[in-house]
This record gives sequence, C-alpha cells and structure tokens, in this order.
Amino acid sequence: MIIYLTENRVEPFKAMAEKQRLANLSLHERVLEQQRCTNCHDIEQDKVAPSFTMIANRYASKERAVLIESIQKGTKGKWEGKKLPMPAYHKMTQKDVEGMVDWILSLKK
Ligand code: HEC
Repeated sequence: MIIYLTENRVEPFKAMAEKQRLANLSLHERVLEQQRCTNCHDIEQDKVAPSFTMIANRYASKERAVLIESIQKGTKGKWEGKKLPMPAYHKMTQKDVEGMVDWILSLKK
C-alpha cells in the first residue's frame, strides 16, 4: 500500500512537534523568541534599547510593578539616549509578563 503524505497530513504532526519544542523551553527563552524582544534588547550589551542587565541593575525587586506596566503599556523617555519607545505588549499573558520581569530582575549584578 502506498501512503501519500500530503501537506495536510504532515501539518498536524509539525504543529505537535512545535508545541512540544516550545513546552520544553523556559519561559524567558520562549517569550524572547515569540515576542522578538531581542530585536531591540540584548542581555548584556546596550543597543537601541537598554540591556536586560542594565534594567535589572537600575530597578529594585520591589519596583517589579513598574516594569510589568512598562511591558504592558509601553514607555518612552526614561532611558537617556534611547530614541525608540518601548512598544506596548498588551497581548502577552499576565503570567508571561510577570515571568519576564522576574527573569530580568534575576540578572542583577
Ligand atoms: C522596538 C524595540 C523594542 C522591543 C521589540 C522591545 N523593547 Fe523593551 N524597551 C525598548 C526601549 C527603547 C526601551 C527604553 C524606553 C525608555 O527610554 O523609556 C525599553 C525598555 C524596556 C524595559 C524597561 C522599562 C522601564 O520602565 O524602565 C523593559 C522591562 C523592557 N523594555 C522589556 C522588554 C521585553 C520583555 C520585550 C519583549 C516582550 C521588549 N522589551 C521588547 C525597546 C524595545
């Protein structure tokens, strides 16, 4: 018997594999990839946006809410020399936003 694997038969398996791959990533790895934060931010290096380490060093852990709001609503003019605004990510889940902020704050040196 010959089985023809058409696109439609392969796609569901590809989708399952992709879901599994994402499930194996840590929260920050997945968000960085899905939301493309690294188009503007590097972990260490100052780019068009402050690095995540610079952000961690500027804010105390108790200022977590400020950073959550900055990601959800966007922000501009807080970081000297940054011409771009930080875009609002209003579609990210609360869990993902909070997880990202906790990860960023954990980079404090
Ligand atoms: C289009 C470029 C761009 C992208 C994409 C981007 N950012 Fe930003 N982000 C910026 C800029 C520019 C600033 C500094 C804004 C300022 O000067 O107020 C910033 C600031 C921040 C801050 C600090 C806010 C504050 O209150 O000081 C956090 C936290 C942050 N970004 C997280 C993220 C996360 C997480 C993502 C991905 C979900 C992301 N950014 C994606 C450009 C970007």
